[in-house]
Amino acid sequence: MGKIIALANQKGGVGKTTTTINLAASLATLEKTVLVVDADPQANASSGLGIDLNEIDCSLYECIIDQADVHDAVYTTDINGLDIIPSHIDLVGAEIEMLNIKNRERVVKNMLEQIRDDYDYILIDCSPSLGLITVNALTAADSVIIPVQCEYFALEGITKLLNTIKIIKSKLNPSLEIEGFLLTMFDSRLRLANQIYDEVKRHFQELVFKTVIQRNVKLSESPGHGIPVILYDADSVGSKNHMALAKEIINKNATRDNAADNTAND
Ligand SMILES: Nc1ncnc2c1ncn2[C@@H]1O[C@H](COP(=O)(O)OP(=O)(O)O)[C@@H](O)[C@H]1O
Ligand SMILES: [Mg+2]
Repeated sequence: MGKIIALANQKGGVGKTTTTINLAASLATLEKTVLVVDADPQANASSGLGIDLNEIDCSLYECIIDQADVHDAVYTTDINGLDIIPSHIDLVGAEIEMLNIKNRERVVKNMLEQIRDDYDYILIDCSPSLGLITVNALTAADSVIIPVQCEYFALEGITKLLNTIKIIKSKLNPSLEIEGFLLTMFDSRLRLANQIYDEVKRHFQELVFKTVIQRNVKLSESPGHGIPVILYDADSVGSKNHMALAKEIINKNATRDNAADNTAND
């Protein structure tokens, strides 16, 4: 059964989409089967993975609002083993349209239950809001990755996000965990970047990924070509960072899986 990981931070421009696209591509390159769910109406993950938004007729929106078959919303990408459920600008209005739906916080969860056995990892790219779609993502998820941009006020707003996670844990999804805090756009030449890493580490300790994502222009160029950085420039720092992150996540979850197996065998 695939592990569902949401990428969330209500701050925009911190690297949620960049991480979703490139972590997904790296996991797939490491022979995992991966599904990206684009839950942001801006649809940057969809276009960044080569989806032509004018060509698709079934997106996350149709699955949520029209109860379209989730299988009809799954599209393949240029990376073997990496599929995507694209977003659509109509998703902006979905939160209001969903107010009439029963169990409206669990729509995405119920939808993904039908396909989670087909994948090793499902990554949900959230929008910069803590609205109903993001609540759906966090309700569906096993864990959440919180990208934190290395800049002044990096931790601003994190308290609000952690509070939302706490409420979702208590009301909707008791097993939701924090997969990790991920430092993004790290510039090792700047003392500030190191100070922010230390500060995040002091607050969240072992929940901070060892891997940091450095600032790298290839990461901002590749979405314009509709491909992940690993296809755009496999030797770039951005590509290597995301590969390291994928390995860190696979290792972390292998330890957990083994622990679960051992407990089961006791
Ligand atoms: N490590 C990085 N190096 C260089 N540019 C980056 C990096 N991460 C993100 N960017 C750029 O910063 C902008 C915001 O990133 P994005 O992933 O879209 O953030 P979010 O999804 O949180 O809004 C984008 O233009 C993206 O290309
Ligand atoms: Mg985004």
